[in-house]
Amino acid sequence: MPSRIILPVIIIGGLLLTSCGGQEAAPTPAPTPQPSAVDAEELYTTNCALCHGAEQQGVSDLGPALTSESLAALSDTEIRDTISEGRPNTAMAPFKGTLSPEEIDALTQSITSTPH
Ligand code: HEC
Repeated sequence: MPSRIILPVIIIGGLLLTSCGGQEAAPTPAPTPQPSAVDAEELYTTNCALCHGAEQQGVSDLGPALTSESLAALSDTEIRDTISEGRPNTAMAPFKGTLSPEEIDALTQSITSTPH
């Protein structure tokens, strides 16, 4: 007597489960963590460390330190512009031709958030 009820419940329940599971799994791509497209620290090491020092401490005669204190005088936009457009008549070259806007944003973020 109970098996007449239980068996269909199991079958229908099983079908519902598998169909739901299947539908949910398909449209939702597995949330694989995307490796960040931009590695700001690597960009800094490659493009900036030569003049600003590996730890943003500055290099005498080449580039000033980029510390939270020295950068506090500049807005993020000014820092971004400095990287993008460079500083005329200084060794600070424009990087807009070398780096993408995303890379310059990431660098701006990185140099202002790294505590030094
Ligand atoms: C060839 C040497 C050189 C390289 C490479 C270089 N800079 Fe500079 N940078 C300078 C110099 C010199 C100054 C100072 C310019 C001035 O006198 O206004 C400067 C200024 C700056 C400033 C403004 C600092 C301030 O206190 O006004 C920022 C921000 C900056 N650089 C970021 C970067 C970043 C980020 C990179 C890498 C993408 C980079 N720089 C690469 C030489 C360099």
